[in-house]
This record gives sequence, C-alpha cells and structure tokens, in this order.
Amino acid sequence: MPQYLVGFSPRLSGEVPISTAKNAVLPILAAALLTQEEIILYKTPDLTDVKHMLGILRSCGAEVTEEKGSVRVRAVNVNSPGENALLRTMRASVLIMGPLLARAGECCLSMPGGCAIGQRPIDLHLKGLQKLGAKVAQEGGTVQVSGLLKGANIYLDFPSVGATENLIMAAVLAKGVTRIENAAKEPEIIDLCKMLGLMGARIAGAGTANIMIEGVERLHGAEYTPIPDRIEAGTLACAAALTEGSVLLEGARSDHMRALLFKLTESGVICQEDARGLRLRGKARHPMEARTLSYPGFPTDMQAPLMVVATQTHGLSVFLETIFENRYMHVVELRRLGAHIRVEGQLALIQGGRTLNGTAVTATDLRAAAALMLAGLAAQGQTTVADPAGHLARGYEGLEEKLSALGASARRLDAPANLTKKPGNDGEFMATN
Ligand code: EPU
Repeated sequence: MPQYLVGFSPRLSGEVPISTAKNAVLPILAAALLTQEEIILYKTPDLTDVKHMLGILRSCGAEVTEEKGSVRVRAVNVNSPGENALLRTMRASVLIMGPLLARAGECCLSMPGGCAIGQRPIDLHLKGLQKLGAKVAQEGGTVQVSGLLKGANIYLDFPSVGATENLIMAAVLAKGVTRIENAAKEPEIIDLCKMLGLMGARIAGAGTANIMIEGVERLHGAEYTPIPDRIEAGTLACAAALTEGSVLLEGARSDHMRALLFKLTESGVICQEDARGLRLRGKARHPMEARTLSYPGFPTDMQAPLMVVATQTHGLSVFLETIFENRYMHVVELRRLGAHIRVEGQLALIQGGRTLNGTAVTATDLRAAAALMLAGLAAQGQTTVADPAGHLARGYEGLEEKLSALGASARRLDAPANLTKKPGNDGEFMATN
C-alpha cells in the first residue's frame, strides 16, 4: 500500500518543472482511436491513469509503444474493449465512446461506476450522442451505442468537460455540421481540439460555450505535446503559499490558473508570471471565499488543496462546492490534524490559524491525497498519508519528489510507517479522475 511520510517544512524554495496535464492527455489518447495513422504524444506524464488509458486503447485493438517520455498509438483496426476491469475503475474510460462510435459505428462499454466524489452519471454524453443519431441501449452494467452519425445541434444542460470532449470526438467524423451549445471551456478542451485540428478535424469555437464541428471523411496521424498541468501547478502554488515559500513553477501557464491566482493574491501571496513560468512568494494570510465553478471559475480540483491553505490564514474562510456532491472527504482527515472545519451541505467553513499536528491520515481521492500531502508540510511533526488505492500516483507525477526538490521533507514509504492509524475511511476506494 502506498504511504507517504511528510514532515513540517517551512519556506519551500527553488524551481520545479510542471508535468503535462493528465486531463489533457487522457482525452487526446482516446482521440488516437479516430485514425488508422500513428499519433505521437510527447512529454506524457508517468501516471497510473495514463498507463490505464494505454491499457484500454490496447484492448480496443490499438498498438501502443511507450518510449521514454513519449507514446505512439496506432489504431489500424478498432473494436469495443470487451471485459476490462480498467473500464469500471477509471472514469475517463468513457472518453473512448465517442471515438469508437465515430470510427466503427458502435461501442459497447462497461458503465463507469459512481465514485467517491460523486455519482458522475453519463446522461449528457448519451443524450448528445443520441442527438447525433446514435442508438443507446443500457443493460445491466453495460452501455451500447451504435449508428451512423449525422451533425446536429446539441445543447448541454451543464457544461460537462467529459461530455463536451466525447461529443466533439464523435462529431469530427459525422456527416455535416454539429453545434454544441453550453460547451465546457476548460483549457483541456482547447488542447484536445488543437490535436484534432492537427489530425485534420475542422473545429471552431473551442474554449467558448459554442463549438462548431464540420465532419470530415477521415483523420490522419499527428504529433503533439499537451499543455502543462494547471492542477499540479496549482497544488504546488498552494504548497508555496502555505509555507511562505519562494518558488518557480517552471512551464506553468498562469493564464490557465487565473481563478486560483486571484485567491492567492487576495490572501497576500505575490504571484508573478515570467518567461520561465510562474513565481510565487510569501504567505497566504487573509481568509478567502471560494466557490467551485466550471472554467474559468474556480476549479473543483483545487478546492481541497486551497482549503489546506485556508486553515493557516487568520480568520474564517468560506468554500462552496457546486460541481461534485461529495467532495469534502478530505475534511475528516484534515480535522484529525487539528483543522477546524465545519461542513453544511455544499458549504465548508474553515477557521484559520489553528496549529496542525502530524498524525496518520488516509487519502480518499486524488485531490484529497494531494491536500493531505500539503497539510503535512504545515503540520508540526510527521504526517503519514496512507493511500490504499494509489490515488496520488494516478494524477501527480512524483509529487513527493517535487516537494522534496523544493526543500520539503516528503517521501514515499515502501513499508508502512510506525504510526498508529485511527479507524475510519477503510472502505472501498474508487477512481476519481
Ligand atoms: N455530470 C452529469 N452528467 C453527465 C456528465 C457530468 O450530471 O453526463 C455532472 C457530474 O456528475 C459532475 C459535473 O457534471 O457533478 C461535472 O462533471 P464533468 O463531466 O464536467 O467532469 P468529468 O469530465 O467527469 C473532468 C475531470 C475531473 C474534474 C471535472 C470538473 C478528467 C479526466 N476529469 O471530469 O478531474 O474534476 O472535469 O472539472 O478530465 C481530477 O483530475 O481529480 C478530476 C476529478
């Protein structure tokens, strides 16, 4: 079982490179199923989720070659993946539905289950595919979509990131024009559309709420380096703000991180963009208010890390989680460390200024795992973060190593640490990407 040992670590300093974005790489890998030709992705991060997606592509008939830091995918013929445990445990598996349907006229998948942070249905994906002419049949835990796709006007009831990506990938090979209204505007959507553009797709409006796709006969191979991970960069920015650090996040795109940087700046941190990336100096001192929203609003994936920062400010911070219905699981663990946090439905009230004391805590999802690592930096003594489901390595490329490179005491333990774990949170863990 992965476990991490984190010690009190004031004033992080130095430079760390930001890895390529998990949530950009996963849909781009799914897009490789749209062509017979070879796709090459550079700077692919060493993450469990990426490995799982490559496994899923293999089970769809693609040939996958991993080289140091890059991946080649060639999907000469494609098929539905069949029974594969990765499909149920990895939420992003649903992103192969649009490409397989567009390319092969059908796709049969195990439904990605609910997960720790919320139910996460795929109704918007299916409704959009039906608009494009697909027949949808659901039986037991399986969903089958089939049919020849024709361009259509689609309105998304909510700007779902995954549904927007799936529908774009389905529409690029559909006959005619598709318009998606109320589309998600995340940078990862723009990145996917850039890659699809290099493959020969015709897409306008990516990054806005109205995306237009003109279907083409076929797509071809392409090479691409996806964007840096704004959530990894944000997590490290929170580590700097928490410890009164002075840190350069090499390659970070501050234009993708505006909402977080406004929060940190209001709280007293100096955030400066320069040619090499993003520099942060100083400590977050003032309490903050954060409401999670779709991009460009404050990202739900940053809620847990920023909450840790809020525990060390002077005063009462107010957070509102509006995207996922169960994304406060880290609160119980932060309380074990001594944080004063009250949760009322979607609302969390964080009383800052309480001393945190290291103890044993458990990661319940990916961003909760990262938040607990940060809390360990601010807690007196040692904190052991148990991560039975391996959440951290799903979405962060060596977070403990990057924190250590900035002077933190943080390492992965191979053997269980000699600390007593309080009972609780030992149920089944599921995927959260
Ligand atoms: N939703 C529906 N029906 C749908 C689709 C979504 O009700 O058909 C709801 C979800 O249940 C949720 C909300 O809409 O309450 C947002 O879901 P969305 O589809 O936008 O999220 P996603 O595509 O499943 C991606 C990221 C998440 C990130 C969210 C929100 C990937 C692989 N995952 O998930 O990342 O939190 O967007 O920004 O891109 C993470 O990296 O830790 C992570 C969870």
